Amino acid sequence: MKQIPDLPEIEWHDEVTSTNEMAMEAARNSAPHGAAIAAKVQNIGRGRGTRTWASPEGGLYMSMVVRPNLKADQWGLLPLATGLGAVMASERMVHEAGLVVTVDLKWPNDLIMHEKKLGGVLCQGTPGEYGVLGVGLNLNTKNEQLPKDVQELATSLPIETGHAYPLERAAFVMRLAVLEALKLFEKEPEKALKEYSERCLTLGQNVKWPDGEGQALAITETGSLMVETAAGQQEITEEVHLD
Ligand code: BTN
Repeated sequence: MKQIPDLPEIEWHDEVTSTNEMAMEAARNSAPHGAAIAAKVQNIGRGRGTRTWASPEGGLYMSMVVRPNLKADQWGLLPLATGLGAVMASERMVHEAGLVVTVDLKWPNDLIMHEKKLGGVLCQGTPGEYGVLGVGLNLNTKNEQLPKDVQELATSLPIETGHAYPLERAAFVMRLAVLEALKLFEKEPEKALKEYSERCLTLGQNVKWPDGEGQALAITETGSLMVETAAGQQEITEEVHLD
């Protein structure tokens, strides 16, 4: 894995409200590219939309400040870059345990292992200025630690591989992989989108969203989902459900 020089140390906390909230504050106060805040537990972990993110001990909860070399209208690529990096990191962790298990993406950035959710990403920030890339990974989480409605949808590394993975090393591997993926999106966006698309389970599937449905065709250069609907092709930016 390539090293990125001069990265600040990851700031660790035992318990916080939300690492995204803290990283947003740090970004507003000029935290540099790559600064990261991680916690063992979050009390008010935020998910996408109006959802919360259950954050018991055992999971990885980390938010990274980035100041990417992307135009404001390319900000939709941040969730994709974070998702791709998180997939790479998760696969590296599995490889280190001597196993090969593929991790896939549901557009834009759910991490899926054996059809269950291993992790998710919440990107916030000010387009053109800074981004906060929050990753929640059910690293060593036990199923019974999660809320009942999440239990049947979620998985973790030990559930899938029989091996736990050290938390601090997971954060280290995760940050490097996400920053590496972001660099690929900045420098070679076509190659990055190709790599992302190869891992994206959503493509080719029938998808639904509050205002319509259709077949997911491709990811656009700004990170939207191109869908074939009965009325023609449409670019979707909101969350979709697989049919
Ligand atoms: C999702 O809804 O799938 C996204 C979940 C993102 C959770 C992570 S955990 C670290 C960071 N801090 C938060 O409050 N949320 C993100």
